[in-house]
Amino acid sequence: MTVPRWLDERLALERFRAKYLGKPFPVHSTFFLGEIALFCFVILVATGLYLALFYEPSAQLLQGHGAVPAAYASTLLIDSHPFGALMRRIHHWTAHLMIAAVVLHLLRIYFTASYRKPREVNWLLGLGLLGATLAASFAGYLLPFDQFSVTATAIGYGIARSVPWVGSTLADLVFAGQFPSSATVPRFFAYHVVWAPLALAGLIAGHLVIVLKQKHTEMRRAGAQPEAAEGAYIHGIPLWPEQVALMGVLFLVMLGVLAALAAFLPVHPSAFYGPPQPVTPEVKPDWYLLWVYGALRLIPGGLSFKLFGATIGSEVFGAMLVPGILSLVIVLVPWLDRGPSSLFYTEPPMASPLRLALGLATITLFLALSLAGFGAELGLSVPVLWVITVVAPVAVGWAAHALARGRLGPLGGAPG
Ligand code: HEM
Repeated sequence: MTVPRWLDERLALERFRAKYLGKPFPVHSTFFLGEIALFCFVILVATGLYLALFYEPSAQLLQGHGAVPAAYASTLLIDSHPFGALMRRIHHWTAHLMIAAVVLHLLRIYFTASYRKPREVNWLLGLGLLGATLAASFAGYLLPFDQFSVTATAIGYGIARSVPWVGSTLADLVFAGQFPSSATVPRFFAYHVVWAPLALAGLIAGHLVIVLKQKHTEMRRAGAQPEAAEGAYIHGIPLWPEQVALMGVLFLVMLGVLAALAAFLPVHPSAFYGPPQPVTPEVKPDWYLLWVYGALRLIPGGLSFKLFGATIGSEVFGAMLVPGILSLVIVLVPWLDRGPSSLFYTEPPMASPLRLALGLATITLFLALSLAGFGAELGLSVPVLWVITVVAPVAVGWAAHALARGRLGPLGGAPG
């Protein structure tokens, strides 16, 4: 396909077409995870724009409506209209799908060593994207302003307050004073509809420009030349029209699945939870933050001591030290891995027993901490949960290492 001469003479589009529209895209199902995350963002913005027409970001009590907060009443109003309820449900399911897609995309990058030189910057931008996605979800969680969402957000407020030395100032800044107050809802609305989407849009743009500039990695084909001998990197389908057609199909399939989910599975029933009350129910965070909650459960609640005038309580260990250390290690992955750079090709997950073992052990640790979040319901005592949290990751890591070593053979090459 060429650009019509008339247009090209005026806008020089032929040069653009030749440079970008022919870009090759490797085809592999796991390479669609980043695109799924991207399309989720688009769907969230579109459905969010609709919801914003009816949502009222205010905690003011509406007299004559049983004195319920305006934000809560407007959520019930959205739910009372079939199309509004459909939009709210699609928005909700898409948020879950986006977090799952971002996490799986991260795992794809990790297990195939696609973070290695020259892609370290995109690893860091990607982690920024993960943080912004989680922050957007956390801010959105409060917006229905029902009893459940207020209680769940209060856990975050408690954690912010427990930061040593600066906790109350930090909590006041983030939550616009004491939580919950009349200032919190507009503040969280601003985070959710302005700050987080802008941050996500900017980071996504940077992320994709880098992918375009550095070019994508691809799975090594059987019998392919070693990287140094490749000379040029070009395998895969061109962006236009094949890749765009595939992306179109993916987008439509996603819309279909999300609409079906929304049609059959209700989300966060605000009417059932009711407006916020002084007595708060026992709530747990959503699946993606359950591991932080589990880590908090594992640390004895009474653990507390003074350090230079600050109180170091159990939250500091469960909600700051554990997530902080895990996050730091994940940030440093490209620099901890001393393997060769991966300009063109991904590395198969089994090629590095240590990377495989550490990756699977870390996933198991997150799962074990999440399980600890349900320890009481499952009848598991804290010591038992501690044993699971320590033993399961070590066992899984050890088994994965042994398996990968067995596959590689004693000299580290493929067994003959
Ligand atoms: C909103 C979140 C994100 C979006 C929309 C996004 C989007 C994308 C897309 C569309 C691609 C190209 C296709 C693919 O490889 O899947 C890509 C590649 C990449 N992403 Fe992300 N991503 C996100 C989060 C992350 C995270 C959390 C990480 C890791 C910490 C990450 C690291 C990378 C890297 C290193 C590449 C290049 C991969 C290669 O060349 O093989 N991204 N991203």
